[in-house]
Amino acid sequence: MKILVTGGAGYIGSHTCVELLNDGHDVAVVDNFCNASPESLRRVEKIAGKKITLYKGDIRDAKLMDKIFAEQSVDWVIHFAGLKAVGESCAKPIEYYDNNIGGTLVLLNAMRAHNVKRIVFSSSATVYGTPERLPLDETCRVGGTTNPYGSSKFFQEIMLKDVYASDNDWTVVLLRYFNPVGAHESGTIGEDPKGIPNNLTPYIAKVAIGELKEVGVFGNDYDTHDGTGVRDYIHVVDLAKGHVAAIDKIGKKGVHVYNLGTGVGYSVLDVVHAFEKACGRTLPYSIKPRRAGDIAACYADASKAKKELGWQAQAGIDEMCASLWKWQSQNPNGYNG
Ligand code: NAD
Ligand code: UD1
Repeated sequence: MKILVTGGAGYIGSHTCVELLNDGHDVAVVDNFCNASPESLRRVEKIAGKKITLYKGDIRDAKLMDKIFAEQSVDWVIHFAGLKAVGESCAKPIEYYDNNIGGTLVLLNAMRAHNVKRIVFSSSATVYGTPERLPLDETCRVGGTTNPYGSSKFFQEIMLKDVYASDNDWTVVLLRYFNPVGAHESGTIGEDPKGIPNNLTPYIAKVAIGELKEVGVFGNDYDTHDGTGVRDYIHVVDLAKGHVAAIDKIGKKGVHVYNLGTGVGYSVLDVVHAFEKACGRTLPYSIKPRRAGDIAACYADASKAKKELGWQAQAGIDEMCASLWKWQSQNPNGYNG
């Protein structure tokens, strides 16, 4: 099938392109490179030994989107393009709503105009807000998001559900990712954050490489097994395969919601220690105050995806950290050499 991947040069998008190509699909990507490098796609092509059709541009550009759908006979859209930094979204809510909500509207308009009505959307566990119960299953309450990034994911889910309600010819797949980490086993593609990372594992990787002094552990007085925050980390390649499973398995029109996680929660200190094993040295850390907006624990019930998509995450935390270390040590400056 022909898959249009928005934001395909980014972290999750690039890994998903590899898995789509490996599964025999044709891939076209649209990306404005606001948070990615074209080098990631060159490396994707090298890993898969296949070509990608690239459109450099913004999904909010209606003319460009029209041209893409006119030129490509797209079967499915996988929609990754968007801004994703929680802290930045609080400082720039207008930019976040413009890009995330505005971009999705232009995309949906172009899809409808060209009668392409199958979409997989990158949602997030953030839509659950403060978890109603753990593990989180797809029937748990959503909403109560605490930042514009999270709210934009929640609103986009509602928009997509409304589109299906208005026209039952659509197939809408909402994939709620837990915490994607790690990198491709080749060590040639991975997450390449700009500046000082906000998320835990890229921060640890920068400490391991000597670029940052120590890991700040945000709080050790949570109600968890060692007092530090617990999350459901999922290997980005497992996550990428979840998208392929969705496209291969979902034949029925409607709105389909899946958690993509492992179902296992690891604490901040568990992750630090797993990374120490991966890089072969002790990593300095110190306990800091809690980070505003953080919750104690968040992990998935991923049994619905297993049952209906035949998909299950395979990698554990050691493999996730080992692959991230391989990417970080082989590419200390990310895609910039
Ligand atoms: P990323 O920033 O690496 O990828 C996003 C890509 O979209 C980038 O290549 C960027 O250049 C592109 N982009 C952004 N706005 C665009 C626009 N208007 N037009 C064209 N291209 C545009 O992020 P990622 O980690 O790969 O995340 C992909 C998606 O998954 C995002 O929607 C994100 O919100 C969602 N998500 C990510 C995580 C995570 O932890 N990484 C968790 C849950 C959900
Ligand atoms: C964060 C976002 C979430 C988003 C996800 C995507 C917040 C509040 N949540 O999730 O909306 O979908 O990223 O990537 O920002 N930690 C430290 N030290 C650090 C960094 C993090 O101790 O330097 C801790 C955090 O307190 C948390 C855990 O590590 O307990 C994971 O943090 P992070 O990687 O930022 O992910 P989330 O907060 O789960």
